[in-house]
Amino acid sequence: MKISKALDTFFLYCVVIIILITAYFAEKVSSENRVDSTVEDEISLTGARLSDELYGSVRKTGEWRRFGSTSSQFEFVIKNLGSEAITNWRLYLEVPEDTTIDSSWNIELSKDSRNNLLLFTPQNANITIKPGDNLEFGAVVRSKKTIDPSVLHIIGYKAAGRNNIIKNLILFMILVWLVAFVGYLVTRFNLRNYRERQKNDVRIILQSMNTFISFIDAKDPYTRGHSRRVAMYAAEIAKRMELSEDEVQNIYYGGLLHDAGKISIPDAVLNKPGKLTDEERKTIQSHTVAGGKMLKQLSSIKGIREIALYHHERYDGKGYPEGLKGDKIPIYARIVGVADSYDAMSSNRVYRRHLNKDEIIEEIQQGSGTQFDPDIVKYMVDMINDGYVNVVKMETAENEDGTNDIHIHEEDLPGVYMGF
Ligand SMILES: [Fe+2]
Repeated sequence: MKISKALDTFFLYCVVIIILITAYFAEKVSSENRVDSTVEDEISLTGARLSDELYGSVRKTGEWRRFGSTSSQFEFVIKNLGSEAITNWRLYLEVPEDTTIDSSWNIELSKDSRNNLLLFTPQNANITIKPGDNLEFGAVVRSKKTIDPSVLHIIGYKAAGRNNIIKNLILFMILVWLVAFVGYLVTRFNLRNYRERQKNDVRIILQSMNTFISFIDAKDPYTRGHSRRVAMYAAEIAKRMELSEDEVQNIYYGGLLHDAGKISIPDAVLNKPGKLTDEERKTIQSHTVAGGKMLKQLSSIKGIREIALYHHERYDGKGYPEGLKGDKIPIYARIVGVADSYDAMSSNRVYRRHLNKDEIIEEIQQGSGTQFDPDIVKYMVDMINDGYVNVVKMETAENEDGTNDIHIHEEDLPGVYMGF
């Protein structure tokens, strides 16, 4: 996953978490601010304190029997003793189930589903009882039994407190959002700078390598483009072997510089068209050790020294410079070795013309298990058969005037730097 995408996903998660936390606290604070109280058996002519804020009294001011039922008249007083207004309140008075409503004043009266009496304020349930205010209302209700008020229940909210809380919550949310947003912008900005720096670093590496490769190519014109082609073949093999992006990239760099040691070989030996003497062969072979020494200092690119040093080792142990065998040869060097040999077979050399596709496949397969790691040969043969090698050749072709402008571009990089 790209870093920017991961950052966006992280930001989204943060937003969801902030919303959930805000909702939790909103509910908690809101319920804390609720006035919700019940008084039983304390309701009398003198009334009772319903909560810290509310005082309520209910009085039976009349009672008469008519047609087998008893009508009762009640008068209520609700007083706000607190310092904040109470709003959105409802008041219940428990009465027998068969109670019916005859009339009411200063209040809208109805029965709720539980057959309690549900008393609303005349206008609507949102009427506010200001601090110090009294609210008086009354009702005449009828039942077969005598009705005595026994349970008075009121639910309401501290209006001013709630408003403050909502205001504070909104401010808090805005603050959190601002902090999150600024943090997000700063991170994005830093990330962009970081990418720019990283791109620049890559540019410097590539330009240095371009310069160095031009030295190598100047030594051996017959191998123009060889380093870049080997790098691309080797990186593709590594990709198909599902090595990590970092490893693919290291192999790419190693492919570019695998013949760095050729700089130390005299031109007369390197470009000699005829048969080489044993001495001359040894001199040419010494480019591996020389390359290994040169690249030892490039320790930031893992395995690059081993690639230069061991890319001419053979799987059967008959290669040079150390005669390492099988898995003892570092995997990077085995990969570059196969890529290097393929390019040698498919390019013209001072001593012969290139082989055709079938000849190359035959030769590579003959070398499987002796010269080459058989596992790596499979990928190389696949790349020949599916035409990948031709794409590389087209991309690295020489100009018509014979010049060879080998440019290594960022888009050639197989690794993590791509896609930003
Ligand atoms: Fe080489």
